[in-house]
Amino acid sequence: MTDPTEVAAKPTRAFVLHPDIRGADKRRAAELALEEAVSLALALPNLDIAGSEVVRLPKVAPGWLFGSGKIEELKARLKEAEVELVLIDGPVTPVQQRNLEKEWGVKLLDRTGLILEIFADRARTREGVLQVELAALSYQRTRLVRAWTHLERQRGGFGFVGGPGETQIEADRRAIDEQVLKLRRQLGKVVKTRELHRAARRKVPFPVVALVGYTNAGKSTLFNRMTGAEVLAKDMLFATLDPTMRGVTLPSGRKVILSDTVGFISDLPTQLVAAFRATLEEVLEADLILHVRDIAHPETEEQAEDVGEILESLGVDEDVPMFEVWNKIDLLTPDTRAALLATDARTPGVFAASALSGEGLDRLYAAISEALDDERTEQVIDLAFDEGRRRAYLHREAEVLDETATETGYRIRVRWTARQRVNFEEVSG
Ligand code: GTP
Repeated sequence: MTDPTEVAAKPTRAFVLHPDIRGADKRRAAELALEEAVSLALALPNLDIAGSEVVRLPKVAPGWLFGSGKIEELKARLKEAEVELVLIDGPVTPVQQRNLEKEWGVKLLDRTGLILEIFADRARTREGVLQVELAALSYQRTRLVRAWTHLERQRGGFGFVGGPGETQIEADRRAIDEQVLKLRRQLGKVVKTRELHRAARRKVPFPVVALVGYTNAGKSTLFNRMTGAEVLAKDMLFATLDPTMRGVTLPSGRKVILSDTVGFISDLPTQLVAAFRATLEEVLEADLILHVRDIAHPETEEQAEDVGEILESLGVDEDVPMFEVWNKIDLLTPDTRAALLATDARTPGVFAASALSGEGLDRLYAAISEALDDERTEQVIDLAFDEGRRRAYLHREAEVLDETATETGYRIRVRWTARQRVNFEEVSG
């Protein structure tokens, strides 16, 4: 949304480079990686992409990343295109960054810096914001000379022109460490409040359906279609950084809570994992996961593998049922599409669909209702007086229909999912 009274700031001219290093472990084609990097860059507000290029590197030059010939050639081109910001899709050491910035007369961001900027721009919950700040600080600590731009603004800039002396660096490190401690304390509080909110939500007797998927797969579009809600959906990576939850009534009448999550990407820099995980906690609570895939993307299989790995590392239980939504079938050629629909018909849990046109969604809705209907059953549990923790669990996690005191303890009638029952078995005392 643009505010008509706001005078648009002049966009920053940016250039995207993807270093294709010979012999490096690569799963993706360099050109597609560059394309993804450009999409990432477009997720930042007010950038004008002046150009992009794959730079093939026989080897990495330690202080400079690129060889001197290439640096000269790029210098002329960057100057001609009046580029102010160079985005390098890969890691750049602080020394390389300093040298290249000086030589080219530009500001430079590497992949971690770029993703941090996007996360900072998109974080919507307090926890998300704090996690991103924390990640930014640990990134910044390693490259004190070039503060990450958001923090530079926040702290009024470090003001180092020719590079700081040792003492200055030490002082700044200490300042960062203090800031980190403060953020961690705040985070602790936020997490506690969040726990409370979540406990309150658990009492809502509707199952949670979480949408996950690679960035740009179409999660927000599907979410919008299902909820009729105005969630930011643009051709922009990471339009969603924090989970958005909404109650939805499916055509069958079954009510669910739908949760949209941030998109996954490959090679997520390690400093960002915690920030990213904070946005995904809802998935761990889900009764059903919808893995939305852009089935028209040339690397759809690799993307699906990445998503699978991340879910596993998050500790998503194998018992949680998962559907695959093969999205964007409207973009396929008739032949591919026919082949895909045939596979879909043969494979349980796979739904070819188009979140944009709505095709295939009725089947998906019906299957969601069916999967969740089986899930919730009623049961009567007898607990002894000394089983306080188990009783607390039932009240916190399950829907308690009624509770009566018996001679030896409590008789509790609950409605719950198989998953909640399994977890209950593990609660002692
Ligand atoms: P992140 O927030 O980056 O994780 O993305 P997302 O998965 O939420 O994707 P989003 O819904 O924002 O969609 C990304 C782009 O794909 C948008 O331009 C959508 O219009 C487009 N899109 C989504 N679903 C479909 C579809 O079924 N067909 C076509 N042709 N385009 C789609």
